[in-house]
Amino acid sequence: MAKAKKITLNPISRLEGHGKVNVYLDARGEVESAQFHVTQFRGYERFTHGRPYEEMPIITQRICGICPVSHQLGSAKACDAILGVPIPETAYMLRKLLHKGQYIQSHALHFFHLASPDLLLGWDADPAIRNVVGVIAKFPDAAVKGIKLRKYGQEIIKALGGKKVHPAFAIPGGVTNALSEDDRDRLLAGMDEAYDTCQLALDLLKAWQEKNLAEVKRFANFESNYAGLVDKEGAIALYDGNWRIVDKNRKKLVEFNPAEYLEHIAEKVEPWSYMKFPYYKPQGYPGGCYRVGPLGRLNACDKIATPKANKELENFRTLAEKGLRGATLLYHYARAIELLYALERTEELLKHPNICSPDIRYTGQPMNEEGVGVVEAPRGILIHHYGVDKFGKITKANLIVATGHNNIAINRSVELVAKEYIHKGKVEEGMLNRVEGAIRCYDPCLSCATHAVGKMPLIVQIFASGELVGEIRRD
Ligand code: MG
Ligand code: NI
Repeated sequence: MAKAKKITLNPISRLEGHGKVNVYLDARGEVESAQFHVTQFRGYERFTHGRPYEEMPIITQRICGICPVSHQLGSAKACDAILGVPIPETAYMLRKLLHKGQYIQSHALHFFHLASPDLLLGWDADPAIRNVVGVIAKFPDAAVKGIKLRKYGQEIIKALGGKKVHPAFAIPGGVTNALSEDDRDRLLAGMDEAYDTCQLALDLLKAWQEKNLAEVKRFANFESNYAGLVDKEGAIALYDGNWRIVDKNRKKLVEFNPAEYLEHIAEKVEPWSYMKFPYYKPQGYPGGCYRVGPLGRLNACDKIATPKANKELENFRTLAEKGLRGATLLYHYARAIELLYALERTEELLKHPNICSPDIRYTGQPMNEEGVGVVEAPRGILIHHYGVDKFGKITKANLIVATGHNNIAINRSVELVAKEYIHKGKVEEGMLNRVEGAIRCYDPCLSCATHAVGKMPLIVQIFASGELVGEIRRD
């Protein structure tokens, strides 16, 4: 009796962290299934037991060198809930500003450095040049502008939290320091250039989509639910809002206070993966797959509250309505629209009359034994959920990160691409690039996903009849 064959890809480059893909072939050499997983695990949730809750924003931001800002914000919000008091208006705005800085730097990095080699140089370009160095050689203007835009986001983060030895800026009850007027003025002066570069990213992406419409439509395009935070008017909300899940046609399935996530979301454990598989409970596993991050948020919201980004959203909807709603490659365009939104919000926040106020923190004793903090990290919904004893020491910590929410979808995307490129046991040219590209659309953070510290290697292996028949590795 023939056993399934297996293909493994390693390492998948230009992802944040590393993972592994296994492809299993059936007796005819066709793809039976594919699995994307990470190979290491450290139980971050456990080490925090017994620590004072107010240390959590500092401890948990070290989960990941890529997403420290998202973790400190999710953590600080969970701590605010334990403290049981609202934070001052200026602290609220400064946390949002920090968050926008993270979006700008993360989304700019993703487009200009991680995704643009695939898009601007082409999937089938020689891997030796299909990287950021290749982009710099062929599109020097875009590459340099991209670096500057990312730096602009980093400057926002630095103006707030970056001056401290312990860089947790968001702390229970508020933030550690005010924004100076000099920093505000300096950041405002950089806005025009930041908008120009964002427009360049949008122009490049839209031209690429137009040219490659058939591939965008075919490539890992599948129906799923979508999830994101929205405000009371249904507009996209990045720092806080209700958690909305919509179906494949954008029809609302549920909208709830994120603190009640356990009523709606469950996590499946698969023996072959250290990453869990969250799903929407009423639809079961894996049918309750929902996608988070830029594509999830733009499909889940009704609108964007800022004018330029909302105009782009209207254009995005016209594409989505042409059979592209589930197109994984639309993540890139959605991400660029969010970049524009983050810039518009940054401008609004910097121009707010109270943004430089020194009223930035409430202090007090913890009122509640439990706290949930949820933010939209650039990659999607991030949950920090803590329990404390009467002394404020952590008794339980549960984290669900964006890459976890997308785990079912990433696996499905990898499988769809593998099915397109592997037939009769033969791997077509370009398969590896496209599997990588499919994963990259989600901008997964594997450090976060396993709550591990540092980076992990990633492999793609092909198995046939239970035996390793191919291994693709690129360092
Ligand atoms: Mg967890
Ligand atoms: Ni991360």
